[in-house]
Order: sequence, then C-alpha cells, then structure tokens
Amino acid sequence: MNNKPDPCIVVLFGGTGDLAHRKLLPAIYNLHHDRLLPEHFAVCVYARRERNDLQYRNEMREFISQFSRQPVQADWEQLASRIFYVAGEFGDNAGHARLMARLAELDTQCGTRGNRLFYFAVASDFFVPLIQRLAGNGLLQRWQDPPAYDVATGRRALQAPWRRVVLEKPIGHDSVSARQLLTRVAEHAGESQVFRIDHYLGKETVQNIMALRFGNGIFEPLWNRNYVDHVQITVAEAEGIGNRAAYYERAGALRDVVQNHVLQLLCLVAMESPSSMHADDIRNEKVKILHGLRKMTAAQVAGNVVRGQYGPSADGKLPGYRQEQGVAADSATETFVALRCFVDTWRWADVPFLLRTGKRLPRRQTEISVHFRVPPLRLFDQAAAQESCIGNVLRIRIQPDEGLSLELAAKIPGAGMRLKNVAMDFLYERSFHLQTPEAYERLLLDAMLGDATLFPRDDEVLAQWQFIDSVLAGWHGLPLRCPNYFAGTWGPDDAARLLPPCTGGWHMESADMPGRR
Ligand code: BG6
Repeated sequence: MNNKPDPCIVVLFGGTGDLAHRKLLPAIYNLHHDRLLPEHFAVCVYARRERNDLQYRNEMREFISQFSRQPVQADWEQLASRIFYVAGEFGDNAGHARLMARLAELDTQCGTRGNRLFYFAVASDFFVPLIQRLAGNGLLQRWQDPPAYDVATGRRALQAPWRRVVLEKPIGHDSVSARQLLTRVAEHAGESQVFRIDHYLGKETVQNIMALRFGNGIFEPLWNRNYVDHVQITVAEAEGIGNRAAYYERAGALRDVVQNHVLQLLCLVAMESPSSMHADDIRNEKVKILHGLRKMTAAQVAGNVVRGQYGPSADGKLPGYRQEQGVAADSATETFVALRCFVDTWRWADVPFLLRTGKRLPRRQTEISVHFRVPPLRLFDQAAAQESCIGNVLRIRIQPDEGLSLELAAKIPGAGMRLKNVAMDFLYERSFHLQTPEAYERLLLDAMLGDATLFPRDDEVLAQWQFIDSVLAGWHGLPLRCPNYFAGTWGPDDAARLLPPCTGGWHMESADMPGRR
C-alpha cells in the first residue's frame, strides 16, 4: 500500500480493555513498524483507570510484546512518545474537558491538524452517550451525505478536518435495537464518517474471496445453481467463552458470530460482481444478498436450525458452559448453531447454504466449502461410489492453514478403475513467504484512510439482523434443552440432518480430508 493516511489522532475509548491490549495497540505498533502510519500521528486514550502517559506506555509495551505479530524493536520508543493518556469517567464533564484540552495541545505538539478517529472499544451501551458528548463539545460534527466526489478520481472529496467514529460490535441485540442505535449515531455522524468493525472483513483470506471469484475467469461459469450442489460455511472455535460471560450470556452463538462474521462470508461467496471496487458498489451487492436471504417461519426454524450448548468434555477435563465463570447454572444460551438457509436470487435459488459455528469444538478452524454437483453418470465401480458421490469441492481455508484447495477425483494407480479425491492446494505462506497482517491492522489503516470498503454499511447491519430476527422468533418460547454436546466435539449430532443426502458429512469433520496437513 503506498497511500498514507492524513495526519491524525486516534482517540481510543476503552484503551485499558482486552481488545485494546490484544488487538488494537499491537495493530498500531505493527502499522508503525511497517511505516504505514502518517508522520504526524498520535494515540490519545481516554479511560477510567488512573494512569499517566508513562505508566500507560509501559503497560502497553508489555501487552504488545505478548500479542504483536512482530517483535517489539527499537522503533517502539518513537511510537511510545506519541501515545497519551487522559483519565476520566465516560460521563464526567471535567474528564471530557481534559480530553478536549489534550487533543488541542496534541494538534500543536504532533501536527495532527484536527483530524480525529474516535475508536469506541467499549460496550455498545456507551456508544450513544459518548458520541452525544463529543458532539456537544464540538468534537464531532455530522457531514452531509453523500459527500461530494472528486470528479477526476471518483474518490470522496476531502472534508477537513475530518472526524470519524469506529464502532465495535455488537450493533444492537435485534433489528429494532440496531435501528435505534444506528439512528442515534447518525444524528451526529453521517454514514461516510462511521466505520463498523466486522474484523472478519479485515482478514486477508476473506478479502481473497473476491480475488478468487472476480480475478479469475474459470469459476464464474460454475458459480451458480446449475453446478453448485450446496455451500458450507463453518466458524469453529476450540476455546470456550473465557471471561466474557456477561456479554455472551445475552448474545449466544447466533448473535455473536452468525449475525456478523458468518453472514459476511456468505455475502462474499454469493454476491454478484460489483461494477467497481468502490466501497458502495461492493456493499450494494452484499446488501442484495442479505435481502435475498430467505427469512424463516417458526416451522422452518424448527426444520432448518439446530442449536446446542456444550456440557463438560467426555473425559471431564473441559468444563461445560454452565460451569464457566459468570454463567447461570440453568443458562439456556446457545454456544453452537447450525442453519440451512437459502438465498432467493436467480443465481442461488434452492441451493442450500449450510452455516455453522460453535465454541468448544475440536479445533479452531474457519472454512468455506463449495460443493459442486456430481457427474450425471456413475461410470465407476461401487468401490469408488463413495468418493465419486462426494464430487468436487472447493475449500477456502480462512484460518488456520490459510489457503485454498480444489478436490478432484483421480484414478488410484494400479489395476482396475478406482477413484479417490485428491487436492490441488494453494497455501499463502508457501506462495507469498510473507507474514499476513492482522485484520485489525488493515481495518485501522482503512478507517484512517477513510476507505469504508471493509466495513459493513448501516443497511447491511440491519438486513443481517432482519434474518436473525426470524430465527430468534422461531426460538421464542422454546428453551434449548441442554447441554446437548460434549465440549471438544463437533456439536449436537442432530446438525447432520441439515445436510443434503450423500454429502459425506459436514466438511472438516472427516479425519482423512484431502488437502489437510
Ligand atoms: C468475535 C466473537 O467477534 O469473534 C468471539 O465475539 C469470537 O466470540 C471471535 O471468538 C472469533 O474471531 P477469530 O478471528 O478468532 O476467528
């Protein structure tokens, strides 16, 4: 990337939280190390705990050493000297006055020209009060949308100094609360000023889905209901919920991961080609898919959705969800969900999209697999039937082992005519020999550049919720009978019934999957 952001201050609310420690500050360090930050730059943290600049910098150095993808080197000192800390309660006038004064000083001291990226790494209850206060103090003004475009480049014309906000999920709890939140944020920040994080979009492998589909000619003729039997998307996690019980108890797997990451992956697989790589052209196509995603009736939810909650592992070593710290002993929150859904467009009519996510599954792995129809004639003997029935599969490995593989049937050498699926493999690390940047590096940089391509637009977020609402309505009054899977397994057995017949099971579950290292 040769484009550097304008001089600016990243104003970080929640700078002493887990996200800041594990992701945001390490991302800023890596951007600094890779010389992608503007020369005139500062980070100003506003948080409740009492700290001075030096204490905060020292603490951050520890976290960055632990979580950064690149080791901390001598250039840390240069970045550290641009990190500042203002202590204050979120609702405290005096604290906000100190923040305003500090930001004004930093503009002079660091040459940041009044440009600010307000990053809200805080619970969503604080978004609106904080934004209102910033607006009340004159630190945030709404721009006119749509912004003027530069005729020559087609890019947004500069509005300086710029003020942008970055919001972490969750954006609401359902479509009603999401709409309220989006509306209240929009009173003070226009759409082009708001960057809603779905960190999956910042992953290189997720961006590569567009490269695969629209940078190659060979897939497009096959990428439709005539050739695709079904698509599977799995976001599997080996971890439990850690120390996030308070959030997760209210969210559950459907809201936590399906509403955002899984539906974004589905959009990228199913969308039509955008007419350009401009943010709105891409987002328009994604929104069409979300609108085409068939909402479910209560009966359809019963037939097409399986949910689960993990109990202790069979060997008793891993606790059940209800034994996790902060979780109610009778909690009915789902930690696993599998859905069969349909996208009602000409391209995808009647093609099942099988979506699945869960905590405490056997391993951390995110994968999309596109299963192509089997050949119309079985020419090969019964011994080969099992393999030839599975057909060609394109596996997009989002993480780990980032890459792609295409499974093809090949003759097993020797007498007779027996087939076996083999894989043609592409692995990022083998082809590029580069360390992949973390999602947050890309997203922070893009927010500073004002490029919204990798951030869901307000109508996308709402359309995602509208689909989720239909599932939640189907669950209403039907508490989950749980636990119904052992920690360390692939979720409730019932999830297998969602698959089309003769698919060989959910992808990733078979131990001898071609292409697995
Ligand atoms: C977050 C969810 O959005 O994504 C977490 O809140 C989940 O529950 C995480 O663990 C998964 O992200 P990744 O990048 O580790 O796959």
